[in-house]
Amino acid sequence: MDTEPTMTRRQLVQRGVALAAASAVAAPAVGRSSAQAGPNAALGVGFIGCGGRAGSHMQTLHWLATDGGEKLRLAAFCDVYAPRLRRAAEAYGSTRTYADYRQLIEDPEVDIVCIATPDHLHAPQAIAALKANKHVYVEKPITHWRQIGLLKELARAAAVSGGVLQCGTQGMSCSAWEQARQLIADGAIGQPIHAEAGYFRVGDWGERGMPVDDPNVQPGPELDWKAFLGDSPSRPFSVDRFFRWRLFMDYAGGPVTDLYPHAFTPVVHMLGVTFPSSVVASGGIYRYPYELREVPDTFNLLIDYPEKITVALMGTQGNNHFGTGDAPVGSVGRSPVLRGWDGTLTFVGRNIVITPTEGSTRKPVTVPVRTGEDLVEFWKSLLNVVRTGQGAPASPMPLAYATQTALLMGMAAWRSGRTARFDRRTERIVV
Ligand SMILES: NC(=O)c1ccc[n+]([C@@H]2O[C@H](COP(=O)([O-])OP(=O)(O)OC[C@H]3O[C@@H](n4cnc5c(N)ncnc54)[C@H](O)[C@@H]3O)[C@@H](O)[C@H]2O)c1
Repeated sequence: MDTEPTMTRRQLVQRGVALAAASAVAAPAVGRSSAQAGPNAALGVGFIGCGGRAGSHMQTLHWLATDGGEKLRLAAFCDVYAPRLRRAAEAYGSTRTYADYRQLIEDPEVDIVCIATPDHLHAPQAIAALKANKHVYVEKPITHWRQIGLLKELARAAAVSGGVLQCGTQGMSCSAWEQARQLIADGAIGQPIHAEAGYFRVGDWGERGMPVDDPNVQPGPELDWKAFLGDSPSRPFSVDRFFRWRLFMDYAGGPVTDLYPHAFTPVVHMLGVTFPSSVVASGGIYRYPYELREVPDTFNLLIDYPEKITVALMGTQGNNHFGTGDAPVGSVGRSPVLRGWDGTLTFVGRNIVITPTEGSTRKPVTVPVRTGEDLVEFWKSLLNVVRTGQGAPASPMPLAYATQTALLMGMAAWRSGRTARFDRRTERIVV
């Protein structure tokens, strides 16, 4: 529901892919490879969650396997809602289908687990996959806002596992962020002091944006409600909670967890910061006061770092003006502005622009952005690390840990009405 409709479809169409294979596409019958696959082994990808976002990943990986020169198989599928599970497995010619994600993780045909379930299920499923030494692509947000302990556990599991983890902030495939990080590290703006980023869009992406496949469905053989609930509070079955889970605080958190991982991850990367010292937040349901909606549609954070840098992260789902007059770079929703003692780094069109601070004797600099956001390249960055054991994927766990900690501090601050602080020694959020 966030950035997925833009890049993937456009890029795959440009690459000549027939999307949404309605007819069965035979999965190549290749031999089994282990999670420590060699450079030439065919990698098996298993999908936990076969909803909207997973469809984009399936299309991308199918293209990579058939036209993109990657040795991989769409090996196995898991969903608690049988019609979606059947649809995906039929489209990609697989008979390896599961209602229980633990069985998919145990499947020896699966080397990489792609997790695209509702937010509250990401961390438990990713931890289980890493503990089984599988590689993981897990959608953002890497945890639900309530799962502060699980975030730390996930970071630990990723650090000790033989598997590689990539978080689904695909905007990190845009070269702009690494180019800007390098410029800042080389002193292009002097000591960074302030940054602005955000996500502005129109649309509630819940009540009106999420399809209800079957308004009369009931828990039973076709739908496992208990498995959907996972570790969230026990609730009686509700069609809205199941299909429109983004509206409910039990399973989602609104823009801070749904959209800001996209806008904020590049900022953390460019500044080279890790955990904040403090976060304050504001916002609420200001635009879409529907009966069902629990999550805010407007959310703002002020994030302070021990390096004496403040990041203002802002947004609303009630207005999509970007503020600078420029289209955003990649899918971040609003191009960031990074201010240093000696200059300011902005993104104008396809360029990184450095403007000297008033009184500075430095010259303005313009650097073209080399490559834009690309889900294919994003997946390839993971596949490359899995095959070679070298380097890190474009959005690795340490970056996701730092980013998500600040966002969870924002949610803690907003819910408590207090300043959230981070205790680095215990890696705990204190409000
Ligand atoms: N990176 C992006 O640009 C992007 C875009 C869209 C969505 N997302 C993320 O992807 C995730 C999924 O979003 P979506 O729009 O596809 O939602 P969706 O509701 O369309 O799909 C989720 C699927 O998970 C299934 N599911 C629920 N519980 C399960 C369980 N225990 N085991 C297996 N399957 C289970 C559901 O039946 C459903 O088919 C979200 O966390 C969202 O934030 C990311």
